[in-house]
Amino acid sequence: MRLDKYICKSTELTKAEAVERINAGEVLVNGLMSGVENDGDIINASTQVHENNCIFLEGQRLKTRAFRYLLLHKPAGVICSSTDEKGYPSLFNDLAIDRVQELHIAGRLDVDTTGLVLITDDGRWTYNITVPTKQCKKVYRVLLSTSITDEAKDKLVARFKMGIELQGELQLTLPAHLEIVTDKEVLLTIIEGKYHQVKRMFAAIGNRVVALHREKIGDVALDVEVGEWRYLTQTEVASFIK
Ligand code: URA
Repeated sequence: MRLDKYICKSTELTKAEAVERINAGEVLVNGLMSGVENDGDIINASTQVHENNCIFLEGQRLKTRAFRYLLLHKPAGVICSSTDEKGYPSLFNDLAIDRVQELHIAGRLDVDTTGLVLITDDGRWTYNITVPTKQCKKVYRVLLSTSITDEAKDKLVARFKMGIELQGELQLTLPAHLEIVTDKEVLLTIIEGKYHQVKRMFAAIGNRVVALHREKIGDVALDVEVGEWRYLTQTEVASFIK
């Protein structure tokens, strides 16, 4: 990670303050002073560092704070964005924890979608959840406007497995698992997160999603009440690291 980011993560300094300290030569990285030439190299804000480096500021060895991992039960009507948008309050408004601005959502939900949202400040961990090659399963409970007939069921399951052609996309969706719960309710498991993917998949087969709820991501199932959140356990955090 960049030296300025490392300092922000391990102190209360803002990015601008961290850069100022680095440029003023107040930071030591493995014994070398920042802001001055050391054998042709200058340690500056963009110098890449990691936890094993010896980084000192004002005589104190800096250690980054531990990453944070949360799950939250998103209500309808809040937006998965760091700020309020289009008249909807941000999901982060009610998250009364420190340095909330450092957190991001590992896989957003639409404003009207409810359910499981994972939140963290660990970008690498998020990559394991969101990138389709990691095959992280997301399970959605979907209520539909039009009944699925008994005759259509098997064909539909096969079609979702084959991949659905979404409007405006050249490639089919990756294989998805469809479990029919009732004629108007299904559980859909997907490993991608294209824009409005679930709604567009059902639109492509001539149906319409009337309610959408994410129940599970990987091995982590939603187990808190709507609007509530909790930290993930170490086992849950590790379950996404492959
Ligand atoms: N697919 C959608 O269409 N909406 C969501 O919020 C999540 C997945």
